[in-house]
Amino acid sequence: MRDGQGAVPVTQVLIADQIAHIVEHLEKLADFSDMVQVCGIAREPTEVVDEARTRQPDVVLLGPGIAGADAHELAAQLHEVAPDARILSMLSNGNGSSPDNGVTRVAQSISAPELVAAIRRAAAPHDTVVEPGATAAERSVAELDAIAATRGSAVAPAAAAAPAAPPAPHIDAVDAPPDAAPPAPPPVAAPDPIHEVVPRQPRTPGQVRGEVFVVHSGKGGVGKSVLASNLAVALAVETNSKVALLDLDLQHGDAGVMLHIDAHPDTMEEFITATVDQESLHRVLATGPGGVRVLLAPNTPDKAESISRTTVRSILQELRTRYDHIVVDTPAHLDAVVLDTIQSADALLLVTTFNVTTVKSARSTLRLLRTLGVDSGRILLILNQMRPRMSVARTEIEEVLRFRMLTQLSYDPHVDDAVDTGRPMVLNHPRSPLSRELIDIVRYLVPAVSRPDAPAPVEGSDRPHALALRRFALSRRWLRMNS
Ligand SMILES: Nc1ncnc2c1ncn2[C@@H]1O[C@H](COP(=O)(O)OP(=O)(O)OP(=O)(O)O)[C@@H](O)[C@H]1O
Ligand SMILES: [Mg+2]
Repeated sequence: MRDGQGAVPVTQVLIADQIAHIVEHLEKLADFSDMVQVCGIAREPTEVVDEARTRQPDVVLLGPGIAGADAHELAAQLHEVAPDARILSMLSNGNGSSPDNGVTRVAQSISAPELVAAIRRAAAPHDTVVEPGATAAERSVAELDAIAATRGSAVAPAAAAAPAAPPAPHIDAVDAPPDAAPPAPPPVAAPDPIHEVVPRQPRTPGQVRGEVFVVHSGKGGVGKSVLASNLAVALAVETNSKVALLDLDLQHGDAGVMLHIDAHPDTMEEFITATVDQESLHRVLATGPGGVRVLLAPNTPDKAESISRTTVRSILQELRTRYDHIVVDTPAHLDAVVLDTIQSADALLLVTTFNVTTVKSARSTLRLLRTLGVDSGRILLILNQMRPRMSVARTEIEEVLRFRMLTQLSYDPHVDDAVDTGRPMVLNHPRSPLSRELIDIVRYLVPAVSRPDAPAPVEGSDRPHALALRRFALSRRWLRMNS
């Protein structure tokens, strides 16, 4: 255990499991980060051993998803590479291991405080008896045990709330005798049903209020700005409607770079002093590819906090009266301005990737949005940077998040170049899988019947897409003429 910032030493844990379970464990530990920190994750036995060697954790948590792993054998290898690490195992094949293999078993259904207590106890077994004058760390273990006790016995006899274990490894000490009937598994609550994608309601004819589509993720670098800028252009070109892009990444906005309009002199900074009205907006907005009007973020990060929530509300209100669709790019954190905008948005495109921390972040964001009362029907999950061979299936992530993806966006090596040159993928590579997937998002967001010049659908034909490609070609010509 290493000393944390306060008096309580922080236990460093290495988690080895499938992605779905890793996210669960991270979530359980999230509220106890002052006591337990995850110093590494691994998805298979060889990775666990390598990670343990590098990170020298206090505790290794072997989850049930380490398929094919033998707890006894893995423990022996871990002892060799990280002799001080204690092992908590959720593997079911630990029975019969010798008492000195250093493994304490815990149940899969272990609750959050029980898991924390188990980790703390494994790391410091002698701390389990609380005497007057006990250290903060000792008390915290006892307190967590008390919390666990109030939750019933969701943990197996081998688990956290068991009496103090001797420092020596003791998997057998917690196993039932061979002839005893196996304990009944604890009741496991049925998971929430997976939220399915619901069809979007077409705009009512004559609707004057523009629709706001917010793009967000709690993680940086996942592709929010790539999606937001391409979506804005694709919306303008595909639906032939008036589109604005609002860059709410007030400190580090990229919309100007992504659309090659970063030389435009006016930004949202104007509205620190000026009143937001149609006239001032028209003056401040830049014009990007496809005719998208863009409100750029301030030029310097220090101006960000001068942009108030009220100002952003007024900006959106004005934009809604003049534009059919307003795409909003956001930073990787949720602040008051972003939350406010999300709450009033018509759709929130929540971006995630296959990265475990991004999935975890998406899960926290979904939970937070639920707590905030945001209707799940307005949330659209997008899986970005999909490559042909991923170690994790899309459905696995959907199970973790209990949310179906609207779509996935392919990884495309041309994106870097598109970002560097400020020429959106949907214009520069309109036939690429990524551009077609972006168009699919547009088709979902703006069903054909909602479009100003929607042609009558021809059954069985690919007419809308053909039209879109023609428009892209025109736009490319437009770009060339204007560059
Ligand atoms: N579909 C994709 N295919 C290939 N690369 C991608 C894709 N999406 C995003 N990227 C890569 O990720 C980088 C970061 O994307 P982007 O700037 O959109 O992320 P972000 O979520 O907006 O980050 P930040 O929170 O820092 O603003 C891009 O410059 C590009 O290299
Ligand atoms: Mg960004």
